Amino acid sequence: MPAFANIVILTGAGLSAESGVATFRDKGGIWAKYDYRDVATPEGFAKNPKLVHEFYNMRRRAHADVKPNAAHLALARLERDYPGNVTIVTQNVDALHEQAGSTKLIHMHGEIFGALCDTCRARRHWTEDLSLDLACPTCGHKGGMRPDVVWFGEMPYHMARIAGLLAAADLFISIGTSGNVYPAAGFVAEAAANGARTVELNLEPSEGISLFSEAIHGPATQVVPAYVDRLIAEAAG
Ligand code: OAD
Repeated sequence: MPAFANIVILTGAGLSAESGVATFRDKGGIWAKYDYRDVATPEGFAKNPKLVHEFYNMRRRAHADVKPNAAHLALARLERDYPGNVTIVTQNVDALHEQAGSTKLIHMHGEIFGALCDTCRARRHWTEDLSLDLACPTCGHKGGMRPDVVWFGEMPYHMARIAGLLAAADLFISIGTSGNVYPAAGFVAEAAANGARTVELNLEPSEGISLFSEAIHGPATQVVPAYVDRLIAEAAG
């Protein structure tokens, strides 16, 4: 296999599962316990902002102690050691890629350690609980501070930049995502249409399995380091 000039990696909740972060659609996942319409839509926030704040405050606190696993570390190693551009587009709101050392990283669904003002749209790093009592430090408006997380019905961040990356990709790797949520679920078709080789690394076949040229199924902490080793060895040899 030749070295790939541009690798784009899409990651999802399965990548962080072995760090102790809950996934969404697995048995006992987040959407088995909560209705996404209540806690992950602008309408849910307008109807019951207190419930939405409680949900994300709980998740933010749960994220405070988690650590990157072997799969996050392997992807950081790929960026460092691979003789080509490696960019991660993550659907995950955790900070585990950056903690592992990845620097070319796009958080398309926002960040749990971020706050967004509904009024002036200012975004800032935020590690504390959010509540209706807070005023925005930028515009001073009170009550509109919300998690900087993309909700259903909202446009993910950096879509133009991602489209450019997918157009230039010669290898697209999807890791730990069920392929249920668009636009991310459509990236594999976009990359394939542009001529990229497409690979899925996931615990089980995803919704989009037929669109991948290759699939390796197993826990991320096993299959991702092994695949990264293979890419680096093939590029070297
Ligand atoms: P899902 O919960 O839908 O899917 C997680 C995937 O990871 C599943 O296909 C699992 O089989 C797989 N998986 C679980 N454990 C794994 C492990 N140890 N190793 C490898 N794979 C594993 O999560 P996402 O696809 O990331 O968006 O969900 C996409 C979006 O839906 C999220 O970003 C979030 C959610 O609603 C918003 O909230 C807007």
